[in-house]
Amino acid sequence: MTSITVSLGARSYEVVIEDGLLARAGAYLAPLSRGRTMAIVTDENVLPHLATLQASLTAVGVASEAIVLAPGEGSKSWATLELLTDRLLDLGVERGDHVIALGGGVIGDLVGFATAIVKRGCGFVQIPTTLLAQVDSSVGGKTAINARAGKNLIGAFHQPAIVLIDPQVLDTLPLRQVRAGYAEVVKYGLIDDVAFFEWCEANAAALLAGDPRAREYAIAHSVAAKARIVAADERETTGVRALLNLGHTFGHALEAEAGFSDRLLHGEAVGAGMALAFGYSAARGLASGQDAARVAAHLRAVGLPDSVAAAGIDAGSDTLVGHMLHDKKMDAGTLPFLLAHGIGRTFLDKSVDLKDVGAFLDTARGG
Ligand code: GLY
Repeated sequence: MTSITVSLGARSYEVVIEDGLLARAGAYLAPLSRGRTMAIVTDENVLPHLATLQASLTAVGVASEAIVLAPGEGSKSWATLELLTDRLLDLGVERGDHVIALGGGVIGDLVGFATAIVKRGCGFVQIPTTLLAQVDSSVGGKTAINARAGKNLIGAFHQPAIVLIDPQVLDTLPLRQVRAGYAEVVKYGLIDDVAFFEWCEANAAALLAGDPRAREYAIAHSVAAKARIVAADERETTGVRALLNLGHTFGHALEAEAGFSDRLLHGEAVGAGMALAFGYSAARGLASGQDAARVAAHLRAVGLPDSVAAAGIDAGSDTLVGHMLHDKKMDAGTLPFLLAHGIGRTFLDKSVDLKDVGAFLDTARGG
């Protein structure tokens, strides 16, 4: 069992990681229940895990009420938010209660935002069931729904009271989803931890095959890295938390071109985006071509895309740069980019010329 503290003063919380934890979750949740019925929000794909969680609550004498939503990005909408907040209010949720988010990033983001606004804020707990949610979105308090103008544009910072991670739930997750989550794991090595990148090179195959020790180590290492970054810059104001956006600017353009659909999963776009960020850094003479090639080779080896074409996107540089102009990170006409001086040496560059990025994309495409 590993327990990692996200140190945020009065809003500090623990992230507990252990195989089989879901069946024991009741012991962690009972103290938050105040003897009242706990609401669990989940989606139709997570029903087997819902049964395990409810049994663990029953075992410690805690009653629960499940709210089961439709799976998929479409649930991060005003319509579902309205439905969910009404249900929580009908259940009589109070400010001192804790609503349980059981699911992937969609459920975590939606429940996080709903609980940020119900009665001007009540408590919530994250029980993430995808690798991507376990190593990234369940930790750090970013919550959101999507707007007509783009993804995650309506939201709030709202920290959970505890995060319970059971790596065993990944046994039933489709490999494509595990791989997409792995992109966010390897990201922590690329940001500032070359030793972890080397560990990833040596152990990714075992991790993706479901080796319990490799999986738990990767999740714990990733969560510890994220906890450090969030503690240093909770609201992404100093540039430290922005490091977590490595690969996301190029990736966002690819996702936008794919219509934010299952054609290209977020983690797949981040994988290709990280390869492009390193490729662009090398093209600018900031990083060595060797490092860029090593990053791309690792992504290819695990089955993640390492280029625009490998991501299944057939779009020119004008189109992709056009998508970048709608990135929510745009700041007074400039787009902050995460570039690298090498593996484990990522930095924020606020002076990137998008024409230069376009020229790089043309060259990378062979144009
Ligand atoms: N996923 C990026 C962040 O939490 O800041």
